[in-house]
Amino acid sequence: MSRVYVFTQYGGPETEELRERPVPEPGPGQILVKVRAAGVNPADLKLREGQFGRSHTMPRTLGFEVSGVVAAVGPDVEGYAVGEAVLGPVAPGEGGFADHALLRAKDAVAKPEDVSFEVAATVPVAGTAAYDLTHQVELEEGQTMLVLGAGGGVGHMACEIGRVHRFRVIGVASEAKREIVESTGATWVASGDGAAGAVRELAPDGVDLLVDLVGGQPLRDLAPLVTSPDRIVSAADEQTATELGGSGRANDPEALEKIVGVVGHGVLTPEVAAVFPLDRAGEALAAVAEGHSRGKTVIVP
Ligand SMILES: NC(=O)c1ccc[n+]([C@@H]2O[C@H](COP(=O)([O-])OP(=O)(O)OC[C@H]3O[C@@H](n4cnc5c(N)ncnc54)[C@H](OP(=O)(O)O)[C@@H]3O)[C@@H](O)[C@H]2O)c1
Repeated sequence: MSRVYVFTQYGGPETEELRERPVPEPGPGQILVKVRAAGVNPADLKLREGQFGRSHTMPRTLGFEVSGVVAAVGPDVEGYAVGEAVLGPVAPGEGGFADHALLRAKDAVAKPEDVSFEVAATVPVAGTAAYDLTHQVELEEGQTMLVLGAGGGVGHMACEIGRVHRFRVIGVASEAKREIVESTGATWVASGDGAAGAVRELAPDGVDLLVDLVGGQPLRDLAPLVTSPDRIVSAADEQTATELGGSGRANDPEALEKIVGVVGHGVLTPEVAAVFPLDRAGEALAAVAEGHSRGKTVIVP
């Protein structure tokens, strides 16, 4: 048998429970992974609350991304062997908060040897989002990138990518995130009413890219600081970003492979701030639900 952390209907945390099911068998194009770690994301909460539509099959296992070891390969899968360490997004309809998860072989990548399973599990969702957001508008060395929500899972990785590319990075986050933001080499600016004024002082000629991970009014407040509105990109609030002249995230199908390569070379280190066992997955989700995550939260079976 295999444990899975599911929700049974759309709603709040009261709909979550730990269940057991037979170990699934991989279908065509799939690999079965013995999960070693699973990343927790705001998307898990949005899914449970019904924000991604209300036609999912119940019970639905939570968790969009995992790292682990291949336990079985489906028919017609080539290039993967049992025992190989991998990471990737779970297959559509599947979940990662589990002892075993199904992945599409074409979406998975090999886990670099020197990267821990916990860190590897944070890359498929937050890492690719950070990669896309920092690359869909091309900046040159020395240009200024402003990151709103810089201390969270995606924001921290976006700041790190900015450092790798030698951008000048300004990260907006609460005081509690000052250290983690500054550890990336970024200049920290306190979130809240004074943020726009503080950024203007640091960059009087404007910023060349605004990477938004918060949305709403905080995004509106910072938007006038961008040299051109099409340099606003948001993973949190595509609607407001578009309204302001910017855009949502553009998905590069090769983003996972590229960002895993960078993490594998040790030039970018995702921050794992909290690790919970699978039987405490509810606490992991509650921590992310507070909206003040520092780096990434991870579940280990
Ligand atoms: N479209 C996609 O493919 C995609 C992929 C990944 C993520 N996302 C979305 O992107 C957003 C961020 O994801 P995440 O994983 O980074 O979330 P997270 O780890 O929960 O981080 C969110 C961060 O925002 C900060 N924050 C909240 N209000 C703020 C404000 N007014 N000013 C500045 N910072 C503020 C929080 O910390 P403090 O306020 O305590 O500083 C926290 O560090 C979510 O909406 C998520 O759903 C989308």
